[in-house]
Amino acid sequence: MEFKFTEENLKRIELAREKYPTALAAVMDTVYIAQEQNGYISNEVMEEIANVLGIDKVYVLSVVTFYTMYHTKPMGKYHVQVCTNVSCMLRGAYDIWDQVKGKLGIENMQVTPDGKFSLEEVECMGACGYAPMVAVNEDYFENLTKDKVEEILDSLK
Ligand code: FES
Repeated sequence: MEFKFTEENLKRIELAREKYPTALAAVMDTVYIAQEQNGYISNEVMEEIANVLGIDKVYVLSVVTFYTMYHTKPMGKYHVQVCTNVSCMLRGAYDIWDQVKGKLGIENMQVTPDGKFSLEEVECMGACGYAPMVAVNEDYFENLTKDKVEEILDSLK
């Protein structure tokens, strides 16, 4: 399916482009904007990013497949990311991971049948001092207990 950036997003990309000495350096900003608009980065989206920046698609592909924050398939409305790296693990992250998996009924990188939730086990998200933590889309929830996790998931409509 063909993908085109909205006029507003084209302006945002132009602003991003002006921050850097080369178009190549604006790839991450542009992929971020594309994911915000489309929900994930399909082949057609990568082609349009390359087209808009005037670069080879292989550069877009290398960025999209290197960074785990970019998704190449549709994820849930709420993308739940549970950190199980060292600090979080030492403070009970695997209990939270098992709890979230059980509650949502899905495994790593799966989406619930209604499209509401997706789940990802992630590496350190830079909030180690507030471990254990979970991110839902771009919101961080820190110093978690199983009760707090239950509350957070129940609050998501
Ligand atoms: S180890 Fe979980 S945020 Fe750093």
